[in-house]
Amino acid sequence: MTATTATAYVNGAFVPVAEAKVSVLDRGFLFADGVYEVVPAYAGKPFAMREHLARLARSLRELKIANPHADAEWTAIAEQLMARNGGGDCMIYLQVTRGAPGKRAHAFPAGTAPTVVGLCNPLPAPSENALRDGVSAITRPDIRWGRCDIKSIALLPNILATQAATEQQCNECILHRDGRVTEGASSNVFAVLGTAVVTPSKGPEILPGVTRDVLLELLRFAKIPVQERRLTLNELRSADEIWLTSSTREVLPVTKLDGDPVGGRKPGPMWKKAYALFQDRKAVSSRA
Ligand code: PDD
Repeated sequence: MTATTATAYVNGAFVPVAEAKVSVLDRGFLFADGVYEVVPAYAGKPFAMREHLARLARSLRELKIANPHADAEWTAIAEQLMARNGGGDCMIYLQVTRGAPGKRAHAFPAGTAPTVVGLCNPLPAPSENALRDGVSAITRPDIRWGRCDIKSIALLPNILATQAATEQQCNECILHRDGRVTEGASSNVFAVLGTAVVTPSKGPEILPGVTRDVLLELLRFAKIPVQERRLTLNELRSADEIWLTSSTREVLPVTKLDGDPVGGRKPGPMWKKAYALFQDRKAVSSRA
């Protein structure tokens, strides 16, 4: 599916992406006043849809944007998007902004309906190279605002961090604040320290990743000790293993951090277990 043949959803209608339009007065365009979700789907079945929709509802609530759809309606939009874009393994993008009032003004507009946009693109599996050798990451200070738990479309610091990583041929930029690891520019971070799997606690500094939570549940169920707590940058630098989780990366091992090897320089034994657990969960979900 190319950009010219793909279908988008815009405010109730399915339209070719090339013809999909929103107003220049849209508050998403003018102020980044909106939120989004990226939902992975495997074999045409959305993965953890309930959790993604719960997070979308929470992001909207926190910004006082009325949720334009009930969960069943969101699910129907996602299913239509998949059907019209070839199905298979794909990522469904849903965005809601505070709408397009008649003029630009900072305060919330009265009586303006939210703008809803949906897209669906193929979701490539992590590359064989990445799974065999791991990926590289850099670290940078986290310069974002104080509500990173809201999945806001205001992503400029994330974009700058991602670009810094890309320019160094790295897969991700891991962010830190006052010596604490927060998260990746578009992922959550896990570290294996001895026998413990550690990931930063939820709170305003990080996005509560759906993949993070699924993985934590799988690890706990498999009796692998996990700790949600403060993770220092020093601990990260001496970790035996580092993993990234996200809806598009699944569970990816990091084997180089700021140019230095991580642990045994290869994806570690704990990652192998975590990855296998996650693949089993994906398989169950795509059969459901
Ligand atoms: N990003 N932290 C940040 C800042 C993110 O942007 C993401 C995901 C995550 C992982 O969350 P989840 O497991 O729910 O995907 C953590 C998506 C994939 C994106 O912006 O494209």
